[in-house]
Amino acid sequence: MIAALQTQPLTQPTLRQLMSSKYSRLDRFISQKTLIKRKNIRLLLAQKRIQVDGKIALDTQQLIGPFNQVIFDHEILQQHSAQYWMMNKPTGVVSATKDQKHLSVIDLLGDECAADLHIVGRLDLNSSGLILLTNDGNWSSALTRPENKVPKRYLVDLANKISAEYIEAFSNGMYFSYEDITTLPAKLSIIADRRAEVELFEGKYHQIKRMFGRFRNPVLALHRLSIGELQLDPQLPLGQYRALSAVEIQSFSASDC
Ligand code: URA
Repeated sequence: MIAALQTQPLTQPTLRQLMSSKYSRLDRFISQKTLIKRKNIRLLLAQKRIQVDGKIALDTQQLIGPFNQVIFDHEILQQHSAQYWMMNKPTGVVSATKDQKHLSVIDLLGDECAADLHIVGRLDLNSSGLILLTNDGNWSSALTRPENKVPKRYLVDLANKISAEYIEAFSNGMYFSYEDITTLPAKLSIIADRRAEVELFEGKYHQIKRMFGRFRNPVLALHRLSIGELQLDPQLPLGQYRALSAVEIQSFSASDC
């Protein structure tokens, strides 16, 4: 596997993220790490003893985020790299960090992946396909925030024949009384008698199974093909994962946040 070793996340933080607690001013950051008083940090900067991402730092107010490398003299105070991975999840593997009964997607990852990865958008135990993993919370929240309505495409195999009336029902939205919600318009394309492609702009609990359930048509297999612009790599075998390219990472820009 090729590790994703960007020191910096490839998306730029928004003002809201900069104001969040994950970012702090350089003088405060150094002071917290070294217990040197904040008023003395200016002198360290003037003496060119502090580097941020390989450059001499000059400004006490420079904002430090979770993925900046910070060095004081020759001591690394922070060294975190942003990581972005895609996995082709097999069925029978849980989209969770740990599970008592089943293997989890985190169990499938090797040592080259960061310990603090989280899953971006879950898939059911018996669904397969594209799963994204990252340690960059800004990036994952851009993808999962409901108001961003990031499209997700699925290939669905069904027990019974699909008819044209499904298309309208999916596009009208369906009322789920348990949550008291109506699903957003979804796109259904019939590919074969018992196979369809479905595009959702949200992710309600067992949504696709429940939508086909309205037609008493059980889902036999559900495979996620894409999330936003990001397509599951057709070369990636089930259970395997790879680092995302810069272009793939940037397909979700910070402006989506
Ligand atoms: N809809 C489902 O029913 N299951 C999934 O895993 C994803 C969408």
